[in-house]
Amino acid sequence: MSTTSSRPAAPTAAPADTGRETLPGAPAENDAAAPEARLAGANVLITGGSRGLGREMARAFLVHGARVTVTGRDPDALAATRSALAGHGELGTAAADSTDHAALRDLARRLRAEQGGTDVLVVNAALPGPVGPAWENDPVQWWSTQQTNVLGAFLTCHAFVPQLIERRGRIVIIASHAGAHRWPHASAYSVSKAAAIKFAENLAAELHPHGVPVFSYHPGKLTIGMAEIQMTGRPQPGTWPERIQRWYLREHAEGRTTPVEHSVRGVLRLAAGAADHLSGQYLTHDHADLVPGPGRTVPRTPVSGPTVPRTPGQGEPLPGPTTDDDALHP
Ligand SMILES: NC(=O)c1ccc[n+]([C@@H]2O[C@H](COP(=O)([O-])OP(=O)(O)OC[C@H]3O[C@@H](n4cnc5c(N)ncnc54)[C@H](OP(=O)(O)O)[C@@H]3O)[C@@H](O)[C@H]2O)c1
Repeated sequence: MSTTSSRPAAPTAAPADTGRETLPGAPAENDAAAPEARLAGANVLITGGSRGLGREMARAFLVHGARVTVTGRDPDALAATRSALAGHGELGTAAADSTDHAALRDLARRLRAEQGGTDVLVVNAALPGPVGPAWENDPVQWWSTQQTNVLGAFLTCHAFVPQLIERRGRIVIIASHAGAHRWPHASAYSVSKAAAIKFAENLAAELHPHGVPVFSYHPGKLTIGMAEIQMTGRPQPGTWPERIQRWYLREHAEGRTTPVEHSVRGVLRLAAGAADHLSGQYLTHDHADLVPGPGRTVPRTPVSGPTVPRTPGQGEPLPGPTTDDDALHP
């Protein structure tokens, strides 16, 4: 693991935690219209922030005055992100593989020493995995998808939760509709995201007594990141990638893809505490509590008890069957 920062000088350690009232992101009654304003000064770590959605989230956090560190495996991609986001604010990059526990722990120690700790953890790094019928997938690729998307999420939280507890921070695990619903012909991805959703739910219950909300979040179907290939790729006719692309392009043409700014807005709001009462739940970018304006679905009351149930009808229910995947059937 190596780190590089665009900061002019290493920041001095932030003061020790003094409770949520003093943390960036603390709920306040007078800024309900723009909860993102609470992010100024927050220390944010985004795994897999060297391109795609991660980079756009980093940009948005920086614009709101947060101090951001992004990870990824490819140092060149991290360098490109530093260039792309230069001038937006305090950005640090760290070449750290999410499946490398030692690298993550090293990064956690470093951020605690340099910044005082992390306030917002966005577990974003993921692989799309192989496509096609499961029995035709390469088992090594199938499993490495679980390693990055599931083990990686666990190891990242394992390394950072102690400082999130200290600072009463928040965790957003980027999930996908693919994990809440079946996603045939992308089973590695679907299974990994289902695990991420369930992990977030369990972690939220475990962290509830410590005041650390945890969410799994579906950013929508994007046209960037791992979905960019669906927009611009030229797969061989008759292959699974081509069939999936046809379906994706139809989704896009029918207005079912999501503008990245909407995806990012939801993460900012979760990070800023706009939906703490929904900790443990699987939330989507268009959830009423994550879009501006009225539309709150659940009263802002603290979740009581040691567990945080995900109850249909309370906040965002799990999506029911849709025809999303029908085109993926032969
Ligand atoms: N794009 C969509 O339509 C969509 C929809 C729903 C959910 N999502 C979710 O959104 C998140 C971001 O996806 P994206 O579309 O932005 O994908 P992307 O463009 O492929 O970016 C993935 C990021 O993760 C990093 N990464 C991959 N494996 C890693 C590992 N083992 N350790 C550390 N970093 C790793 C990549 O950098 P390196 O390769 O250099 O490591 C890259 O920065 C993912 O969790 C994805 O499942 C995306």
